[in-house]
Amino acid sequence: MKRVLIATHNAGKLKEFGALLAPLGIEAVGAGAMGLTEPDETASDFAGNAQLKARAAAVAAGMPALADDSGLCVAALGGEPGVLSARYAAGDYPTAFARIIAACGAAGEWRARFVCALCLAQPDGTTATFIGQADGVIAKAPRGEGGFGYDAVFVPDGYEKTYAELGGAVKDTISHRARAFAQVVKGLGSSCRSAGGDG
Ligand code: IMP
Repeated sequence: MKRVLIATHNAGKLKEFGALLAPLGIEAVGAGAMGLTEPDETASDFAGNAQLKARAAAVAAGMPALADDSGLCVAALGGEPGVLSARYAAGDYPTAFARIIAACGAAGEWRARFVCALCLAQPDGTTATFIGQADGVIAKAPRGEGGFGYDAVFVPDGYEKTYAELGGAVKDTISHRARAFAQVVKGLGSSCRSAGGDG
């Protein structure tokens, strides 16, 4: 079986990548299992952070690595927390949900967007990066037990349930991460630079 290193220590992301790769006969190996540390996310956008994480992992491990940088952009917060989504919650998602819901309520604006930049890096440091987005609204209260992160407060367009209520089987067909992943697989779409790699 082919193996791809998933340059993340986030168990939720690793599980989703495992489910996306399994039908392709590819095993997802987590960065933790390879003893890799995560570089600081110093870029100002999703693509830049995905590239630095994927490249560092691929070069260190000597095998192809996929990294995702993702987050929730809330219209009422001017697009924040965005690349700072993990830091905005700081492990306390109930409090983050309450702050986001309060901001949406105060603004009367509930639109939000999940963004995922997915970078495939080779051991020689070359990369190709793809962007996936999922538009939706913030739920007026968190709902559902599945998933991770902000899943309980995001209702994707075309659905009435949150990502957490929809569960992995549905989320993995419509999510920002699934959309970016589909571009990697097909070699289509919005590579940040040329087909030969973006740096
Ligand atoms: P990073 O990409 O490791 O910087 O962190 C992304 C953060 O965005 C996660 O820790 C979550 O807080 C949030 N996030 C990204 N994708 C998802 C998702 O699919 N569901 C819920 N939260 C997500």
